Amino acid sequence: MRAPTVGVVKTRLTDILEVEHPVMLAGMGGVSYSALVAAVSEAGGFGCMGASTMSMERMEAEMAAVRAATSKPFGVDLLTAMPGDMPAQVQSIIDHGGRVFVAGLGVPRDVVNLCHDNNVLVASMCGKVRHAVAAVAAGCDLVIAQGTEAGGHTGTVATMALVPQIVDVVEGKVPVVAAGGLFDGRGLAAALTLGADGIWVGTRFIATPEAYGTPGYKDRLLSMAEDDTVITKGFTGKTCRVARNDYTQYWDEHLDEIQPFPAQFVRSMNDGANHLGAGPDTEVDAAREFWPAGQGVGAIDELVPAGELVRRFMAEAEAVLDRVSSLR
Ligand SMILES: Cc1cc2nc3c(=O)[nH]c(=O)nc-3n(C[C@H](O)[C@H](O)[C@H](O)COP(=O)(O)O)c2cc1C
Repeated sequence: MRAPTVGVVKTRLTDILEVEHPVMLAGMGGVSYSALVAAVSEAGGFGCMGASTMSMERMEAEMAAVRAATSKPFGVDLLTAMPGDMPAQVQSIIDHGGRVFVAGLGVPRDVVNLCHDNNVLVASMCGKVRHAVAAVAAGCDLVIAQGTEAGGHTGTVATMALVPQIVDVVEGKVPVVAAGGLFDGRGLAAALTLGADGIWVGTRFIATPEAYGTPGYKDRLLSMAEDDTVITKGFTGKTCRVARNDYTQYWDEHLDEIQPFPAQFVRSMNDGANHLGAGPDTEVDAAREFWPAGQGVGAIDELVPAGELVRRFMAEAEAVLDRVSSLR
């Protein structure tokens, strides 16, 4: 009888990130702050900070807090399409010891050389095959193939269909990381089977004690079924998968009034429905609040410490891979 093995899954992703496990914490704005990032990295996964809603000062304080908590590698995700000084933000990531810069929306052509000159890897979120082609052509070091199941900004193609098509087009030039609706080790094993080199997990990591977020968010996730999410442009102006509520319902009925990103983002903030990044001391109305969540949410019924989740992902994937290979 083989002893349970955790951490034997070595891929090109674990090689280039220099981590034990091919499990990445998604850089979720408003959620992936220093405590969560450090917990995932410390457990041998790869913690990625979600800095899209942070001021420069906050981002630097959070990076310093990660560095104080762990010497393991971590990354930072920014929304490239967000107005802001991208090169200065990336320089700050370099100065604070980030290992990977993840571009959340769009290929970050302007900063690829800056990153590479400073030994920082560049990752790009991809919802379509052509996004991955553009990312590799621009010099990105890994692509994250994110299916429509994902929480947050998302496209229309499902993870199961998207990942192998991106794997094929990338032709082994860079590692491919699967994302969207992956919430346990079965998802990791499936992603590896589809040709990916690891997974990028968002929603499952929100339901951890370490995750940042507004009050009620984690409780809402624990109570949701798999069909309680909806894709709406109502919070940001871009298609975003969130917990369904009265505010999403309103925008479903007023599609023609939705403004483009980022004007709609400002609108939802002014409506008091968007406090992403405001943190645990904020008062929010659960019937209207912006709570991104993926379709895996129905499987989440308890808060689990983030490091424990990383270990569970690995042990479960190992068991699945053993079972599948025993079928032959
Ligand atoms: C609360 C939340 C915030 C997010 N914010 C960002 C972001 O700022 N930048 C980004 O690239 N992706 C963001 N995403 C998408 C995640 O990076 C990731 O692709 C997604 O969560 C994966 O799907 P899953 O939630 O089903 O695991 C966010 C997702 C959630 C749930």
